[in-house]
Amino acid sequence: MKKNIVLTGFMGTGKTSTGRVLAMKLGTRFIDTDKLIEKEAGTLIREIFKKLGEPHFRGLEREIVRKVSEENGVVIAVGGGAIVNPANLADLKRHGIVVSLTASPEVILSRVERNLDRPLLKVEDKLGKIKELIAVRAHFYEKSDITVDTDFKNPEQVADEILEAVRREM
Ligand code: S3P
Repeated sequence: MKKNIVLTGFMGTGKTSTGRVLAMKLGTRFIDTDKLIEKEAGTLIREIFKKLGEPHFRGLEREIVRKVSEENGVVIAVGGGAIVNPANLADLKRHGIVVSLTASPEVILSRVERNLDRPLLKVEDKLGKIKELIAVRAHFYEKSDITVDTDFKNPEQVADEILEAVRREM
């Protein structure tokens, strides 16, 4: 059985763009849990947050993570808050190597600034909010098997670093 490579980390650390490149390099499928949640719910994540609230979103996320954790040999990107739930992390680790992508708050801000799709960052002081959420979540991301910093790197470089680290780990 081949392990999955699971990308986690804060919003704007490049999980989706890196995941696509990584899957292409490995000749395997790329699964984005946020996209699956939108498909299943038939609406956008920002609409789920707005109409039904974050707890409802976390319930949908839990179900999707449970399902995709059963895959083998694929690349999976999960939303930035998924592994705050220990059940999600445990499921993802069962068949997967969990890779946490990091970036400095300033770089994250520059990457997410014009994106409307992040309901948690729809606040005046985005940099402050990014710092606050990272402080709360850092110790969850630290539970990953591998950490790769993405500041000033493109997805291709990050994917290569992940491959190197994963090969050392196996
Ligand atoms: C969230 C991150 C988002 C998405 C949702 C909540 C979070 O995914 O799941 O808006 O709690 O950090 P990305 O990390 O892919 O932006």
